[in-house]
Amino acid sequence: MTVIRPLVAGNWKMNGLKAALDEAQTLYERVAAAEPLAIDIMVCPPATLLMAMAGALADTELLLGGQDCHPEPKGAHTGDLSAEMLADAGAQALIVGHSERRRDHAETDALVQAKARAAHRAGLTAIICLGETKSERDAGQTLERVDEQLQGSLPENSQASNTVVAYEPVWAIGTGLTPTPAEVAEVHGFIRSRLAARIGSAQAERMRIIYGGSVNADNAAALMAVDNVDGALVGGASLKADDFFPIISAYLRRRAT
Ligand code: PGA
Repeated sequence: MTVIRPLVAGNWKMNGLKAALDEAQTLYERVAAAEPLAIDIMVCPPATLLMAMAGALADTELLLGGQDCHPEPKGAHTGDLSAEMLADAGAQALIVGHSERRRDHAETDALVQAKARAAHRAGLTAIICLGETKSERDAGQTLERVDEQLQGSLPENSQASNTVVAYEPVWAIGTGLTPTPAEVAEVHGFIRSRLAARIGSAQAERMRIIYGGSVNADNAAALMAVDNVDGALVGGASLKADDFFPIISAYLRRRAT
């Protein structure tokens, strides 16, 4: 069986002023005390903090990610940032297709795919988010919806080394609600099988499929124990080192057993 190195990523969304750099530093100090790490730990701050954070965290094992990008490498797109700019600022990965962007900016699967392709072009890992709404789940359309987003959002050249799939049920984000372990297992197993059909089983077996939506210190261990869950994308609980580190610890403990 292929052993996948888990990824626990913190998505800070539109949160964090300069003072938040201290949180990243505190997180790093706790992580450093827990070394050697058998998992990847990433913080995805707003773009305004990326460069300063890259400086503060240089020579540490913490990875940095950005949130979203424009598909083009440069040009007349006021207010937008390209994947190349975010890479230049210190990002190693980019979150694309988050449901908040799909909702707030009417992002389609085709646009998400173009953004993921841009991340690859810039040498970054694309963390591609997908997930069903509450009404889609209630209507029994979860797998259909997830497959549609997966097929539409994944670029052709996606490989385990440059792509992470994040399953984030929309109704679980920021609500304190999570699917049951059986529900998570069903969707993650389904994503793995659809990835195998799309990119071949060798790549699919190694690609990380992470879960996001109300992950916290209390449920992290149970979620991590689910088959085909290769890590977590954490929103609200990633903003403070005091909340994020216990989630990371749950993953570290699992890897140690
Ligand atoms: P949450 O957000 O952990 O606050 O639910 C997760 C996400 O949107 O990535």
